[in-house]
Amino acid sequence: MLKRISRMTAAVAGLMLALGMIAPPVTALTATGYDIDSASSLQVVVNKHRPLNPATYVPARLVRVQGEQLRAEAADAYKQLAKAAKAAGVNIIPVSGYRSYSQQASLYDSYVRQYGQATADTLAARPRFSEHQTGLAMDIGNASGVCALQACFANTPAGKWAAENAASYGFIIRYPAGAEDVTGYTYEPWHLRYVGKELAGQVSTTLEDYFDLEPAPDYL
Ligand code: DAL
Ligand code: ZN
Repeated sequence: MLKRISRMTAAVAGLMLALGMIAPPVTALTATGYDIDSASSLQVVVNKHRPLNPATYVPARLVRVQGEQLRAEAADAYKQLAKAAKAAGVNIIPVSGYRSYSQQASLYDSYVRQYGQATADTLAARPRFSEHQTGLAMDIGNASGVCALQACFANTPAGKWAAENAASYGFIIRYPAGAEDVTGYTYEPWHLRYVGKELAGQVSTTLEDYFDLEPAPDYL
């Protein structure tokens, strides 16, 4: 419903723009009013068809979170999430947050050496194509280390708590089960992507689906 109303609003704005009644915005917004193109946008959509611009983008304000780094907005939200989980008896720990272009390149290369390129491409993004480079993604784990970065993480206390509560803190599980044809990645129940509370509350599957973007299972 909200999505439909925003689309109508955008249509009216488009008409006004065509009639020369308002100045064009500097950055293009989606029909839903989000900037999904700018690397610095909290709602940027990065996938195998949508590389970061510039390639070596580095977020302006990175802050430390238990040995990892996130953009300030995402770090604040992450701390609240971890605190709420702890209050519920679930110990969530940060495993991997911000990764620079060169760190992502090393990670991707190590996957290629270990599994070959085809499999590596379903597990790790190539440099310039990773949400981790935005400073808005955090891989989480259980303090016990059980099922770290494995699909069985979904059945652990941290995995279950995150699936139920992450959206309340502005995070989505970016690579859900059964969406490999859209995202190009296997299920990653540990990969949380900060998009803000409003959008997180509206996305039920993938960002591609929500924004009516083409599926991006492979690189172009
Ligand atoms: N594992 C995710 C897809 C990344 O490398 O960004
Ligand atoms: Zn991740």
